Amino acid sequence: MNQAKDAAGSAVATGLRGVVAAASSISDVNGEKGELIYQGLDIHDLAAKSTFEEVVFLLRNGCLPKRAELDELRKNIAGSYELPERVIALIKECPTDAEPMDTLRTAISALSFFDKESRDLSREASIRVATRLTARFPTIVAAMGRVRNGLDPIDPKPELNIATNFLYMLKGELPDEFDAHVLDVALILQADHELNASTFTARVVAGTLADMYSAVTAALGALSGPLHGGANTAVMKMLLEIGNVDNVDGYVKDALAKKKKIMGFGHAVYRTEDPRATHLRRFSKEMGQRKGDTKWYDMTAKLEEAMKREKGLLPNVDCYSASTYYMMGIPLDLYTPIFAISRISGWTAHILEQYADNKLIRPRAEYVGPRNVPYVPIDER
Ligand SMILES: CC(C)(COP(=O)(O)OP(=O)(O)OC[C@H]1O[C@@H](n2cnc3c(N)ncnc32)[C@H](O)[C@@H]1OP(=O)(O)O)[C@@H](O)C(=O)NCCC(=O)NCCS
Repeated sequence: MNQAKDAAGSAVATGLRGVVAAASSISDVNGEKGELIYQGLDIHDLAAKSTFEEVVFLLRNGCLPKRAELDELRKNIAGSYELPERVIALIKECPTDAEPMDTLRTAISALSFFDKESRDLSREASIRVATRLTARFPTIVAAMGRVRNGLDPIDPKPELNIATNFLYMLKGELPDEFDAHVLDVALILQADHELNASTFTARVVAGTLADMYSAVTAALGALSGPLHGGANTAVMKMLLEIGNVDNVDGYVKDALAKKKKIMGFGHAVYRTEDPRATHLRRFSKEMGQRKGDTKWYDMTAKLEEAMKREKGLLPNVDCYSASTYYMMGIPLDLYTPIFAISRISGWTAHILEQYADNKLIRPRAEYVGPRNVPYVPIDER
């Protein structure tokens, strides 16, 4: 292996930090400048002007859709919103106290039974599979959100976009326009983030030429971990525990003294503000103002001040999405599944890119165990 060794003589890049493991045109994170681009377009432009459906097209095709292309994608998404009956039945069979990410992972895995194209890895068929997956994530999350409370799932409305339809299916009534807009932008902001853990997982599985459902199911497993997708729920739990704005400073001092991490702050790549947090901060504030109570925004802003002062750490994407989703009336444990509703667009774009120029991903391990160990028969051990 031709690899640089560290001071201790190890060639291991712990956590693969700094290792470039794929060439990709899908998204790029500049941690020093605080920039995020999708296929060359700045996230701030997309957040201000685009829609999630446009971003789905952009990520997989490399350019924004023309009107006819967007219409076709929307039609294909709308035509795929509905779930097979047996997948709805499976969701109903899941324990009511199941972790939503476990139910989502199980339902997505089961969807492959009902997709005759799942083993066709051609670009044309894979795009159709990707569209079906993108359309069905929100239907599954909304269905599980209702079924566990003893409510019937609500049929999707094909005329609604993904964000509006999700809120409609979850709550059983058409959402406030501002809420639907905020969710649409939140979906844009979380759609892709280069080789994060779940995307890398998806590419590793796709690299074996396994089907897209297998790759996405594995990615869901990676996203479910608290160091990846779980931080937004943890932020809201923390805000509820802190209780009010006057308790924020004391809570932060106490937590840091105990070496506890404050969720929603810090990032493995960004050294400046996470550009996604800029938009979510604004939405959290405006959502509070519109709903007549800025308590959750005020607390988060105070946390931000304290973390900057005490640790020099800045908010990440999860910091303000927590209070934003809370004020929309979304249950806390659905925040990570909503992240998945967005990230399926990035995962599937990466899987398509992997299939298009595939090489099995197979790194090496530095062996640190013993050698030449004699085999001792069982009765002599
Ligand atoms: C995201 C995260 C894993 C990035 O980690 P990283 O760049 O590898 O940085 P480390 O975890 O090695 O932390 C470096 C230092 O900053 C501290 N730190 C990092 N994030 C912190 C946080 N959120 N709260 C308190 N301290 C934090 C660490 O304790 C460590 O301090 P030390 O040098 O005194 O030991 C980390 O910031 C974190 O756990 N944040 C909270 C979880 C979160 O919000 N995740 C969502 C990410 S989008």
